[in-house]
Amino acid sequence: MTQSLAQELTQFVRSHYGTESGAIPLHAPVFQGNEKKYLAECIDSTFVSYLGKYVTQLEAMTQEYTGTKHAIAIGNGTLALHAALHVLGANSESEVITQTLTFVATVNAIRYTGAAPVFLDSSRTTLGMCPEALKVFLQENAELRDGKAYNRKTGKSFAACVPMHVFGHCVDLDGLIKICDSYGIPLLEDAAESLGSFYKGRHTGVIGKLGILSYNGNKIVTTGGGGMILTNDDALAARLRHITTTAKKKHAWAFEHDELGFNYRMPNVNAAVGCAQMERLPQMLADKRATAEAYARFFAQKGIPFIAEPEGTKSNYWLNAILAGSRQERDAILEYTNSHGVMTRPVWEPMHRLPMHADFQRGPLTNAEWLADRLVNIPSGVRP
Ligand SMILES: Cc1ncc(COP(=O)(O)O)c(C=O)c1O
Repeated sequence: MTQSLAQELTQFVRSHYGTESGAIPLHAPVFQGNEKKYLAECIDSTFVSYLGKYVTQLEAMTQEYTGTKHAIAIGNGTLALHAALHVLGANSESEVITQTLTFVATVNAIRYTGAAPVFLDSSRTTLGMCPEALKVFLQENAELRDGKAYNRKTGKSFAACVPMHVFGHCVDLDGLIKICDSYGIPLLEDAAESLGSFYKGRHTGVIGKLGILSYNGNKIVTTGGGGMILTNDDALAARLRHITTTAKKKHAWAFEHDELGFNYRMPNVNAAVGCAQMERLPQMLADKRATAEAYARFFAQKGIPFIAEPEGTKSNYWLNAILAGSRQERDAILEYTNSHGVMTRPVWEPMHRLPMHADFQRGPLTNAEWLADRLVNIPSGVRP
């Protein structure tokens, strides 16, 4: 049964991507717009580092597309998360709540600040942080002092809650924000995977206090490597711009820095590629949606659960995913497809199982473990 499904899936993917032989990647970048033109212009201008018109242009395009007040271009999504957590005050005296089922960068960034991560369960429909799990965890562990939430067991404050929009599918933001607000915990959206995804008509990453995007080579829009911080908060935006450019005070020629800063801004060469990519975002999203719809029809006929966008949301379908019946069935699908040139992948190993992140507090993680045993990502790139 599994072997024949994997075989049919392989044929289906080959015919969908029009590739009879050779490898089909999970998500390869497509450069069909002005990338080379803008790159050449950027090099000719000699402004290749973080000062330059493409950085400003990419920030403006992102502000317009996402509807955020401030977009700050950063070297990559991990750095964007680190800087965002830093301005929210995450440090060794605090904890940051996140989901165990996420890419490791979310938790690495929390650890860079010195804060301790707290791992919560996922929802089986959104794949992201489960509001009920957050509510129960805080009821059992949090106490409010002067409007700030502290962990009763450790005495540390909760600096932030970081849900992640898995594969571009939106988490239940209303549910999470309501709970976070009642404890005074700021919400930072890890929207690294969800450029082009909308929650109840609003772009992901702009609904929480802060949000971040990634433009890694495997994302829907790439700058080679890059990220963006999104916020509507003027004061946070000003501070983020300052600390990510080495906290240098504005001056015509003097080098004065007024706090510990980071060199985290996106170079202009990367932004040049990003501007060209952003111009084609609507076409790329349309093609990805067509692929998701084709998969949904295919798997409906086979009786295999296909992960669809949650109700009331619009997903970018960054990575399409199905649910195998068991870990054994998952591995059989992975084995067959990968050995026949069709790249498929399991979801990430949950964070609480990784050796360097294993010793932190967690809630019950039943859904995350169930999902981790079954999820399979299938080729999802834009067709050239
Ligand atoms: C959920 C998530 N968070 C953070 C990142 C980090 O982004 P980057 O690779 O740009 O550092 C990624 C992707 O790479 C991601 O998928």
